[in-house]
Amino acid sequence: MTQTITRNQVIEKIGNTPLIELSSFSTDSIKLFAKLEWHNPFGSVKDRAAFWMIKDAESKGRITKDKSIIIEPTSGNTGIALTGISSSLGYKVEIVIPEKVSAETKSILKKLGAIIHETSDDLCPRVGSGTDQSIALAKAISTPRPDIYYMPNQYENDANYMAHYDTTGPELWYQTNGKITHFLTGCGTGGTITGTGVYLKEKNPSIKVVAIQAQRNHLLQGLRNFEESSMPDLFKRRESVVDEWFTATNKDSFTMVKELANKENILVGPSSGSVMSAMLDTRNKIKKGIIVGIFADDGRKFKSLYKEQNVFTAEEYDKALHNAKYLSELLY
Ligand SMILES: Cc1ncc(COP(=O)(O)O)c(C=O)c1O
Repeated sequence: MTQTITRNQVIEKIGNTPLIELSSFSTDSIKLFAKLEWHNPFGSVKDRAAFWMIKDAESKGRITKDKSIIIEPTSGNTGIALTGISSSLGYKVEIVIPEKVSAETKSILKKLGAIIHETSDDLCPRVGSGTDQSIALAKAISTPRPDIYYMPNQYENDANYMAHYDTTGPELWYQTNGKITHFLTGCGTGGTITGTGVYLKEKNPSIKVVAIQAQRNHLLQGLRNFEESSMPDLFKRRESVVDEWFTATNKDSFTMVKELANKENILVGPSSGSVMSAMLDTRNKIKKGIIVGIFADDGRKFKSLYKEQNVFTAEEYDKALHNAKYLSELLY
């Protein structure tokens, strides 16, 4: 697919993802909705940021087709998005990734044509702690060869924020007819929460923005714990948009992954389980509202993790996959 897709087809398929009601968790006065980001062409919320960062680099003349190599440290989804989008646009990609990232993620990256460098980092590359092997390695490879390498650096690049300010925020405002009262998302770089949160608050300052971080020493690919790893600059610039923090545990997140499969027939990635547990916490604290959570990716990259963590047996996983509604066939 990536070989034949044209630039316009990639652009058209990014964003405008479905918003579905989670009816079995809604009440008469509180409605819960999930934005299914795996409907982006390369399977996650990160397509938005990756495409905006590439467009930004092109507009600034930082990259040249058939010559530049884009290199980025990532815990998976940004790598998949950058590789898929870049190779369809004529750029090569190298990804620096923690070895703990799921085998399925690495195999998708290889299939899409990325060269992979593995480090023994935590699941999410640490920022600014001196142990950020992935970020340090990406910089070490790219800095001496600025004529060839370009590192978008999602942890600092404002195009990551702008992607969500320009797309995710307006989509949610439109899809809820301006009725959204609470916006929740997991945080990695902070691009999703700041871009979407700032846009929504400009529309209605009383909308509450809830940020979800992972517990320490977590298994929630894409999320970060901000005590273990300091807050990326991109997030710090607009941290004030956050009204409330929620720390998701591995256990609660995996429990919600299973509940979402059983009650809603959707097969989500671990971080959507985290978002779901935060949405229920919000639901239990309010009397009335429209709560919207970002479901960043689906569960198809996590069969081995779910088996290892006893979330699903192989049979249960296959059943959940078979029954899963709203899967997208674009990446698989
Ligand atoms: C798998 C995954 N990737 C990325 C993100 C969001 O990341 P960022 O803060 O970098 O926009 C999330 C947030 O929920 C996520 O779950």
